Amino acid sequence: MATRFYKVYDFSQHGKEPQELYSVRTISLDNKMICLVRLVDGYYAIDDRCPHAGARLGMGKCTEEGMVVCPIHRYQYNAKTGRGLPRQGDFVSTYPVENREDGIYIGIEKKWWQF
Ligand code: FES
Repeated sequence: MATRFYKVYDFSQHGKEPQELYSVRTISLDNKMICLVRLVDGYYAIDDRCPHAGARLGMGKCTEEGMVVCPIHRYQYNAKTGRGLPRQGDFVSTYPVENREDGIYIGIEKKWWQF
């Protein structure tokens, strides 16, 4: 397995801060729906699908503590670890995000033949 990085924001087109602080946004990438979150120390990416009943986390919001809140039943997931609150007992997958000189990139694991 190797990680392929996809540019999701180009600073020359979207500016240096393409998302507001604590904003969430759904991004369709490589047949996946990913929720991109901006926190004080950078961007984080988690699965966009809420494991509770399938709502889009990118339609929700993010708290100042870095918890993504689902728009339907308000379950919360940590934007950095993907962990839900302890009483929920579930989690969402996380994806690596790189802030490079020219933009923001999200990494997706691929098998060698998928490159
Ligand atoms: S669908 Fe997300 S908390 Fe129910």
